[in-house]
Amino acid sequence: MQIFHHVSSVRAAIRQARSEGKGVGFVPTMGNLHAAHLALVEIAKQHCDIVIASIFVNRLQFGLNEDWDRYPRTLQQDSAKLEAISCDFLFCPDEAEIYPNGMDAQTRVIVPSMASVLCGASRPGHFEGVTTVVTKLFNIVQPDVAVFGVKDYQQLAIIRRMVEDLCIPVEIIAGDIVREADGLAMSSRNGFITAEERPRANQLQATLCWIEGQILAGERDFVQLELEAKRQIENAGFRPDYVSVCNSKTLEPAAHDDLSITLLGAMYTKAARLIDNVSLQLGAPSN
Ligand code: PAF
Repeated sequence: MQIFHHVSSVRAAIRQARSEGKGVGFVPTMGNLHAAHLALVEIAKQHCDIVIASIFVNRLQFGLNEDWDRYPRTLQQDSAKLEAISCDFLFCPDEAEIYPNGMDAQTRVIVPSMASVLCGASRPGHFEGVTTVVTKLFNIVQPDVAVFGVKDYQQLAIIRRMVEDLCIPVEIIAGDIVREADGLAMSSRNGFITAEERPRANQLQATLCWIEGQILAGERDFVQLELEAKRQIENAGFRPDYVSVCNSKTLEPAAHDDLSITLLGAMYTKAARLIDNVSLQLGAPSN
């Protein structure tokens, strides 16, 4: 695996691969790689001749009181994991390479729909930071295909919308959520869960599955389901951020006759904010 720290050198390598007729797949990450990230690389490999992963802990998408400074940075282990699954290129720039004019002066990409609800409501500016850096990374790598995890459902929906709105020539592919044996969605932030909390940390997923069961059984009082879901999370000793029954495409509160529904939730443990989602299809999707 070739490792690049600079935009110019990664571009030169990609240009060379393209001149050999190779299709390029891209997996952007913030590192601290686990099985779910590696699964995204495997998906990219199925679609393209060469795969490039990036590792960049993007300060622009963290709020002032969030965990940017303690976000796990494990570059050596990460690059060994990527090497072991034959990822072709790793791009790991530093902040000055991505934001040479500073972050305040950085031109921003904003997706006005969907960015201020759910996670966006409790993390103002977060999705603006994501869409800005992803646009930059897309412009640097110019991939044919980019793979993102469904665990970050809202991020995926916003990136799809951004690509559509800005006519960015990249195909976005989604990688399924990868879960621990007890259902907890894999996340780089799971390392912040304390040993005492860990046996209960799958509560968010358990609650979303409970809502799914209720809806499949015919319940349509979504507001009541959301209230009860928050109670379940509180009873397990966590602080719910939100639990929301949404239209899978728009992320607006689901209507009673919506057929594609996604249940999204976020909760705080002592030192982490965890997110999860479950999608359900109640009939043939309408276009
Ligand atoms: O999902 C992530 O790890 C990040 O939000 C991303 C897409 C790499 C942008 O920094």
